[in-house]
Amino acid sequence: MLWQEDCLPGLPRRLPAGSVDVVVTSPPYNRGMAYHRYADRRPRAEYLAWIGRVADAVRTALAPDGSFFLNVGGSPTDPWLPLDVAQEVRSRFVLQNVIHWVKSIAIERSLAGATSHLTGDIAVGHYKPVPSSRFLHGAQEYIFHFSHRGDVRLDRLAVGVPYQDKSNVARWGGARRDLRCRGNTWFLPYATIRRRATDRPHPATFPPELPERCFRLHGVDRIRQAVDPFLGLGASAIAAARLGLPFVGFDVDEQYLAVARRRVETELARVPIGPRQLRRKTHPPDRRQ
Ligand SMILES: C[S@@+](CC[C@H](N)C(=O)[O-])C[C@H]1O[C@@H](n2cnc3c(N)ncnc32)[C@H](O)[C@@H]1O
Repeated sequence: MLWQEDCLPGLPRRLPAGSVDVVVTSPPYNRGMAYHRYADRRPRAEYLAWIGRVADAVRTALAPDGSFFLNVGGSPTDPWLPLDVAQEVRSRFVLQNVIHWVKSIAIERSLAGATSHLTGDIAVGHYKPVPSSRFLHGAQEYIFHFSHRGDVRLDRLAVGVPYQDKSNVARWGGARRDLRCRGNTWFLPYATIRRRATDRPHPATFPPELPERCFRLHGVDRIRQAVDPFLGLGASAIAAARLGLPFVGFDVDEQYLAVARRRVETELARVPIGPRQLRRKTHPPDRRQ
């Protein structure tokens, strides 16, 4: 369900208190991004107070064992922004995990070790050059994982990675299968596009794999309602469609929502009908009590 609506009144209007299991979102960063409708520049204190009100609305909507994944990135000239946002949310939630979304990375073969099977040095991902002798190019954003009490059980192996050195599968007491915790650095590149205006008409998106990984980490079987209050082109809705999860999204912009709807419809046409039906059966609405 996608609503063209301000999420502040929209969240309590559309979602009963405590009914949401996972929120994955990326708010506007107040960096003067050229959004189609939203004006992305206001005094810092006013912006942070607004983030606080959004966090209040999410807090009311979120179930006691729910997860709130908040993606925020800084800029070379404003590296404090994501930390200021997290600080604003701090009085409302416990910061359970800090995940680093890595957009590009270079790995030298000599440092990766023999078990990496690298045949040479690699540099992968999205590279956006910054013409500066002062600043490094920004290759990372934060995903703050907030919860009510900091004790939400996670399905770490649902986003786990196979051991490079297979002898570790037997060596580590807890390792019953060839998977280990991925840790808090997530390499997630953007899909390559040819023309922004037609292929990705929005200045600040995340790839659907980001919310998909957040949903899986929380535990897909425990998600009866997923939400993104700042939907943009619908990455979170696409991820929910892939996993067969009930989803509610908000954006104030009708053009972005139109693209989001088309993308979700394409995804739903692609997803086999079986898993979607199965998911609905597994999570009937009356299981909330
Ligand atoms: C950083 S973008 C989100 C992008 C999204 N994660 C994606 O991958 O496409 C923030 C979005 O919030 C929307 N927005 C701004 N104020 C809003 C509000 N009060 N309620 C709902 N959406 C809002 C903007 O139109 C913009 O699309």
